[in-house]
Amino acid sequence: MIDPRLVAVKKKLSLIKRILVFSSAKGGVGKSICAAVSALSLSQAGFRTGLLDMDFQGASAHIFLGTELCFPEESRGIKPFRIKERLDFMSFAPFSREHPVPLRGNDVTQAMIELLAITVWDELDFLVVDMPPGIGDEVLDILRFMNRAEFIVITTPSGVVIRVVERLLEMLRNLEVPVVGIIENMKTNESPYRTNSCGERNLSNSYMAKRFQMKLLGSIPFIPDMDELVGRPDALLCSILGLTIKKIMSAITRQRGNSCKSFLGGVNG
Ligand SMILES: Nc1ncnc2c1ncn2[C@@H]1O[C@H](COP(=O)(O)OP(=O)(O)O)[C@@H](O)[C@H]1O
Ligand SMILES: [Mg+2]
Repeated sequence: MIDPRLVAVKKKLSLIKRILVFSSAKGGVGKSICAAVSALSLSQAGFRTGLLDMDFQGASAHIFLGTELCFPEESRGIKPFRIKERLDFMSFAPFSREHPVPLRGNDVTQAMIELLAITVWDELDFLVVDMPPGIGDEVLDILRFMNRAEFIVITTPSGVVIRVVERLLEMLRNLEVPVVGIIENMKTNESPYRTNSCGERNLSNSYMAKRFQMKLLGSIPFIPDMDELVGRPDALLCSILGLTIKKIMSAITRQRGNSCKSFLGGVNG
């Protein structure tokens, strides 16, 4: 028997034009901040945007956005939070209330299905999805529930991160999942030419992008006083991270012909 919730998920997501999934095989690389600022930037540019924090255990997009989450309003499902003009937001955080949720395996999948099935998004130009780290259940589930998902992979210049992110890229390539490109975060001035321990492999993000024939969408510098920007969406948008993300989003929207006044040189351009 078909799970009726999966039919509901399909219907709910049918009003969304593009789904951008921010993912990485590693934690702590900037998935959440890049997803949150990308959603802010798209909405500021005039696109109707949703931001969905799919990190069940580590929900944090609302922290970057400085949003206090009460219990969502119910109206034939639950309504996402309107956090800015043209920006709606949903997360597990209002349900777990920042407490740990010791679920595993299929229970996490069930919680994801539930959240997707009951959240009533308006018509959206973009849904930005902030993923938990890893290439296990959650990524496979997202591919199952959102078959139109386009991935944006977040990496850093760390050789360790690159070696782990390569596994995600390999999996996405094998599964023929569309990858919009790679964002390199926390770049510093010293980006030495690095090889693996046998000296046989170039461990840089530009080389990785070339190897997988994927686009390196941009590099975001390491920002030493980042904590001061957390919870301040307008300050985040004006930071070098925000400006870089704005450029990346502008290129992404132009790729597929989404038109947008402000990205094309208007007030926020
Ligand atoms: N460019 C950057 N410069 C400095 N700190 C950053 C940068 N990007 C992210 N951070 C910090 O790194 C930490 C992890 O970021 P987060 O977005 O939560 O990563 P993830 O979602 O991949 O686990 C946060 O404390 C965040 O403020
Ligand atoms: Mg995160």
